[in-house]
Amino acid sequence: MNISCPNVAAGGALFGADPRAAARVTEAVAKSAGDKPVIVKLSPNVTDITEIARAAVDAGAHGLSLINTLTGMAVDARTRRPRLANVVGGLSGPAIKPVALRCVWQVCRAVQVPVMGMGGIASAEDVLEFILVGAAAVQVGTANFFRPDFSFRLVEELPQLMERWGIASLEEYRGSLRA
Ligand SMILES: Cc1cc2nc3c(=O)[nH]c(=O)nc-3n(C[C@H](O)[C@H](O)[C@H](O)COP(=O)(O)O)c2cc1C
Repeated sequence: MNISCPNVAAGGALFGADPRAAARVTEAVAKSAGDKPVIVKLSPNVTDITEIARAAVDAGAHGLSLINTLTGMAVDARTRRPRLANVVGGLSGPAIKPVALRCVWQVCRAVQVPVMGMGGIASAEDVLEFILVGAAAVQVGTANFFRPDFSFRLVEELPQLMERWGIASLEEYRGSLRA
């Protein structure tokens, strides 16, 4: 359940930025979802993402996925026009990985449910970085646009990298950041 998409004017961003609204919508969806797990997708465009994470989990989320895009903007200095139809839009890809890692690390320490990490993953090493800070699983968005075979290559490259670095299992590696 995406409560964080910044691309729709006056849309999901409202739910994702307010813990009470996030809890209300999570509760409603969880109630009508029956046996199906409810995974809530969080926005990084908030002051304290752990507050929203806790609100969603307390309201019945079985897992969380994060992060959605960061709100950004691009303008053309010559024509003086915005480059995006909606003026502001979502920034994704490798540029947002540090923010994503920080959010996943913070949320993994704040809640007990599985967290799916994403934001800028473009290599097997990136995947391990997200697992290292506590992610139970990862997702890949933008890399699929600039490298359509990326996910297939990842399936091959991740076990190879783990073997090279002596990582026996993701379970053993998960959340093992020496901070
Ligand atoms: C073109 C595009 C469309 C997206 N649409 C959605 C969407 O409909 N729902 C959603 O939850 N996230 C959407 N996202 C956000 C991605 O799922 C992801 O959270 C974000 O881009 C960060 O991951 P990435 O850097 O691997 O792309 C979209 C991202 C892009 C680039």
